[in-house]
Amino acid sequence: MTRVDAKGTVEQAAERLRACRHVVALTGAGLSAESGIPTYRGSGGIWTKWGEPTIDGWELFNSDPGRWWEEAIDRQTLMSDFAQAIDRAEPNPGHLAMAELERMGRLHHVITQNIDDLHRRAGSRAVTEIHGNRHLVRCMSCGRRDRQDAIFLERLPPLCQECGGILKNDTVMFGEPIPADVLDECHRQANLADAFLVVGTSAVVYPAAEFPAMAKRRGAALLELNPEPTPLSRLADVVVRAPAGESLPRLAALLGTA
Ligand code: APR
Repeated sequence: MTRVDAKGTVEQAAERLRACRHVVALTGAGLSAESGIPTYRGSGGIWTKWGEPTIDGWELFNSDPGRWWEEAIDRQTLMSDFAQAIDRAEPNPGHLAMAELERMGRLHHVITQNIDDLHRRAGSRAVTEIHGNRHLVRCMSCGRRDRQDAIFLERLPPLCQECGGILKNDTVMFGEPIPADVLDECHRQANLADAFLVVGTSAVVYPAAEFPAMAKRRGAALLELNPEPTPLSRLADVVVRAPAGESLPRLAALLGTA
């Protein structure tokens, strides 16, 4: 196994991926950083600035969902700069390159920790949003998801039109379990993968960070695209220390040639 140092090249990544049959990507906030959305950790990160949220939100939702919705709507009217950054964001060359890799049959599934919908807006279709999607609400009983702008908030908490269950925004809160359907798909993809491309994530949040390590233990190739080291770097076969907006378009160009 060639352990490539921080100067691991995109060419080496392309060579590793060329022979693979089922490539899965795990993406994080670093991929959307070049769309103007702040990351969570590291310099300028929102948790770095404001501290990580507590699990109070999840506990309040469970004890008084109506009050949780009232506070969520108040927060929304405050429109944090994070929410405004997401609203303004457009897919960047990294997202577009991943959609291109999917069209070429070189990338088979994306597990994203991002809630910004930018993979789908870039054209990726095989996407699992392990931390949810900020534009959606989810029924806590039947799991049905609807566009947030399609529900009525006259009566709180809003109820599922399918089963009458209580609705919550789809974004997974600290302390909230990952929805079972999402977790099943992530496990399925980690078992199918013969290569995992880890892009723009600090790889410190579980269960998301476990999937590339699971695949690696099964013999899959592990490739990391990130300007900074992460806990997965030592496991990686190829490490490319560059911004995703640079490395991914180069990777797509190399894999686009026969
Ligand atoms: N290209 C690639 N990677 C980048 C870039 C870039 N242009 N800019 C920053 N990065 C890397 C950083 O080096 C860091 O490793 O992106 C990573 C961002 O890490 P985090 O801010 O921790 O974001 P993420 O890994 O997605 O966080 C995981 O934590 O709080 C939860 O739910 C939240 O989904 C989030 C999860």
